[in-house]
Amino acid sequence: MATDKETELHYFQLLNDIASGERQHGIYIQAWADKTPDPELKACLSMVADRETSHYHIFKRRISELGYSWTDNGDPELEERLRVNGSDMPDVEKARFAMAKGAQRPSPTIRERYQAAMADETVDSLTRSLLHWFSDVEADSSSRLQQSYARIEANVA
Ligand SMILES: [Fe+2]
Repeated sequence: MATDKETELHYFQLLNDIASGERQHGIYIQAWADKTPDPELKACLSMVADRETSHYHIFKRRISELGYSWTDNGDPELEERLRVNGSDMPDVEKARFAMAKGAQRPSPTIRERYQAAMADETVDSLTRSLLHWFSDVEADSSSRLQQSYARIEANVA
């Protein structure tokens, strides 16, 4: 349960949304890693899924350090993502689905929100430092996934 402090910390919702999102990403990316017959893709997906799950734990811990409690934001996306990623659909179709989903993100995206918080001096410095590191890891994961998707597309063509 969230505490009464929720209304006091203006970036609680951001941290809570990051923790919720990372938890979900970790689950549905691992579901794809468990299904793919492509060892290179499996290694990439497993690494990214591990990072996402780890981010969930770290942000949940930071929320608790600040005196709040993480609560699942109830994003319904997990069910659809799991249905696709846990299916026997070919990897190239899963990759296209993931890219289409990425392009549909409503604005402001979570990335835009945490980038704004990184530059916001009213956010405590330890959290901003965490967001900088998180942003770097997310960018690296994203570029590794894009490379994997491009390789899969090239193999189909
Ligand atoms: Fe992520």
